[in-house]
Amino acid sequence: MTPEEEIASGQQTAPQATSAEVFQRLAFTDELTGLRNNRFLKYRAPGIIIAARKARTSICLAMMDMDGFKKVNDTYGHQAGDTLLSNFGKMISDYVAKRGIPIRYAGDEFAALLYNMDKPNAKRFMDGFLRKVNEAKIDIGDGVSLPIKISIGIASYPNDAEDYESLFKRSDEALYTAKESGKNMVITYPDEGKLVAPGNISTLFPVEQMVGFDELFSELKLHTIDRVVGGDAQQEVSLVIGGRGTGKTRLLQELRKSAENRGLATIYATGIPSQKSPYVSLIKAVSEPLNHDQDLLKEIAVMLSTNERKELASSIPILDTLPAPPPSDEPEDRNTLVFKALTKILFGLLRKGRLLIIIDDSHLVDQSSLQFIDSFVSESSSSKIDLAFGVLTQAEGGAESNLSSLVRAIPKLAQKSEIYRCELKPLGELSIANIIYQITGHVKISAVSLRALATRSGGNPLFIEGLLKLAIERGLIKYDGTNWK
Ligand SMILES: Nc1ncnc2c1ncn2[C@@H]1O[C@H](COP(=O)(O)OP(=O)(O)OP(=O)(O)O)[C@@H](O)[C@H]1O
Ligand SMILES: [Mg+2]
Repeated sequence: MTPEEEIASGQQTAPQATSAEVFQRLAFTDELTGLRNNRFLKYRAPGIIIAARKARTSICLAMMDMDGFKKVNDTYGHQAGDTLLSNFGKMISDYVAKRGIPIRYAGDEFAALLYNMDKPNAKRFMDGFLRKVNEAKIDIGDGVSLPIKISIGIASYPNDAEDYESLFKRSDEALYTAKESGKNMVITYPDEGKLVAPGNISTLFPVEQMVGFDELFSELKLHTIDRVVGGDAQQEVSLVIGGRGTGKTRLLQELRKSAENRGLATIYATGIPSQKSPYVSLIKAVSEPLNHDQDLLKEIAVMLSTNERKELASSIPILDTLPAPPPSDEPEDRNTLVFKALTKILFGLLRKGRLLIIIDDSHLVDQSSLQFIDSFVSESSSSKIDLAFGVLTQAEGGAESNLSSLVRAIPKLAQKSEIYRCELKPLGELSIANIIYQITGHVKISAVSLRALATRSGGNPLFIEGLLKLAIERGLIKYDGTNWK
């Protein structure tokens, strides 16, 4: 059987279908869209792949995921979401028609199993689909039509995979990369080597200097660590504001380094996704200096009561390495104990002079930590504590922005402090060229490519890294782990 025949054998139901055939058909069909479903992929694709092997032809699997589907659901309701999925299903079905099998994998994830197609062909084919999707508006009922976007990942058999499982895995990895690299694009699994795990890019591309932010950085330093700390200087709060991947974390870490070089004590708290239990961000942040500074640890340990230490011991195990103070406390609830312990630790950190507190990804930080900072900083001597927050701006309207909810979470500080806004701007072409030079050491990039990189990344450092990763993946730049070509 050719792959087409193998496919056809699983697709049609004979006029005088047996109940087993009818049952199979139902089991392999997605109710909402009428497309094949994930069971079909799982049970029929292996056979199709074996047929392709025998026929010595190539099969590609394109995995697709709608970008921002959840928002449609949340805004217009599930009924509208279903209509959208169903109409999108028709669109895939029409497009893929004779070249392969359209599948609804799950939720807003779709797939196309494309036969007699090698990867470059499949890429062209799916690029065509992406264009079509980008030009279309999809009816969601009640006279409303919405533009939609999708991300697509492609892998091929036998080029990238030895069987169905690996084919599925590889195309899913490519899809993940498409999502990570900015969405609304088609990514193919790379011919050589593995995809770089998204998020680890800076370990592959360490850019030693922060590029293009000199002025902004000196301004930020001026408002935090360089500021004159006279007796009645007003408290200042700096907000580092920008979109995803614009360099907020990087800037705050550089700030921290500068502060430490000046002899300031620092703590760096950050949001812990899906973990907002009381004080979790602050406890984690203070554990770092305690782990690194034996003197500080000893000094603070004697100030903590037995119960306070007990509360922190699971998060800061090093506290348990010191002899325990004599038990003395009245029983108190956990939050009170942690509150008191944190107060003592921060006073301990202040013992030598100034302290810089950095709160990154403030929208993910638990409310108790923010409340604590609000009271502690606004009630202590303003000349001794510098404060900088990383704030992720939200593009979409509707929900309260991260900035206004932060301001609401620190009411005392917001009222009595000077607020300095440090807004991260897109990098220009010169900075991008500089980043590439820093990464590669020698590869020169043409003015045209540079412009393309600047436009496609929007000057966002994270996307520049992502695009470079793509360039490697497509063989435009070669990197063998040590050398660039
Ligand atoms: N000016 C810069 N020069 C060189 N590399 C940079 C610069 N800004 C950011 N980067 C790099 O770009 C990547 C993304 O930056 P970073 O993680 O700081 O962004 P972010 O704004 O904190 O994003 P998120 O909202 O995802 O937390 C990092 O690898 C960082 O080292
Ligand atoms: Mg960050």
